[in-house]
Amino acid sequence: MSDNHEKSNQDLLVQYQHTASAGIDDAVCLPFATYTDPGVYALEKDAIFRNEWVFICTEQELSATGDYFAFELVGEKLAILRGKDKSLRALSNICRHRGTPLLNDGFGNLSTSIVCPYHGWAYDDEGSLKAAPMTGNITVDKERHCLPQFALESWHGLLFINLADDPSSFAERMQGIDDYLVNFDLSTFTYAHQGEVEYWESNWKLAIENAMESYHLFKVHKNTLEPVTPTKNAYYLAGSSEWTITGGELVDNSNKFMKFLRGNYPEAYKHCLIISLPPSFVGVLTYDSFSWIQVLPLDAGHSRIRSGAISPYKPGYEDKKSAQLTADFFAEDKAICERVHSGMSGTLSQGGKLVELERVVVDFHQFLASRLFDSPVDDFFFTSMSDLFTKGS
Ligand code: FES
Ligand SMILES: [Fe+2]
Repeated sequence: MSDNHEKSNQDLLVQYQHTASAGIDDAVCLPFATYTDPGVYALEKDAIFRNEWVFICTEQELSATGDYFAFELVGEKLAILRGKDKSLRALSNICRHRGTPLLNDGFGNLSTSIVCPYHGWAYDDEGSLKAAPMTGNITVDKERHCLPQFALESWHGLLFINLADDPSSFAERMQGIDDYLVNFDLSTFTYAHQGEVEYWESNWKLAIENAMESYHLFKVHKNTLEPVTPTKNAYYLAGSSEWTITGGELVDNSNKFMKFLRGNYPEAYKHCLIISLPPSFVGVLTYDSFSWIQVLPLDAGHSRIRSGAISPYKPGYEDKKSAQLTADFFAEDKAICERVHSGMSGTLSQGGKLVELERVVVDFHQFLASRLFDSPVDDFFFTSMSDLFTKGS
């Protein structure tokens, strides 16, 4: 690498740290190059995706013994599996013999053991090597050939993996968040609804920032989300670099049957809460659904986006109109993120001020600053109830 290149890389990291650690009053868009630069992506991959709690799937999707989800995270083949003892484990999905991926990517159910398709080494549902066929005079030490296991935590059925050798405390990370969810009974959300898997030509930070903020609803989702959750009724509830809860008032346009079922539901249920857990999860919580979007990076310019929901209803309850609405606003988000990304390789312009409705983006930037640069971040911030219900009314 030339000295000049190294210097410009160093300059970019200095700018990244400076911008990401700013509080709301000084916050601006991150330097565009942080969304395209492979060096920045390599840093984020190691400091964040290999070292942080990353949302993968839901317990509700793995309800039966033997259910598994095999997936790739920053180049690692992994699987979450429900064993005979009913416990969920996160295991490496790579054979300890000569490196063959074991389970095919996606959801499935394991009826017997995990058997490698290459030479038939077999592992049990806890990742212990049980059999290595036809090894001749050679003894394979089974103890030394188990599948590595990783930290896995559940929060209301949402499963988070952490690939670090010594993972940070999940409980500490989530401290205080449940205080804001007391009106919602997530324990009744026992069914999983699987949405779409999409590939976006967009950096992962653009995709997750877009999922978090409600500032763009009136423009990007003028005919889809704006009539249901108008931008002007969006508000910031509480948060910090660790998690953020924003909210929105719902315009009640649900069909007559659903209204009949719910009766006169409390005022709180006329609001949705948007829960942002960087780096990979944003969920929209209502009275009867928790719909989520997951963003995982593939490289600096590509992301894998998956959507889904948990709710008290069996899949199929959703009417055709709502399914179409979801597909439509997803397409709008994909188009805008890809459009923004297409402009980020230029060097003659730069981003500007973040506004009040983007406070959640500022929280996310501070998450990046703390994880990438160990920067100090702002204290927990919350909107007082009196501010919340007098503002804009
Ligand atoms: S690579 Fe798996 S058994 Fe040989
Ligand atoms: Fe959107």
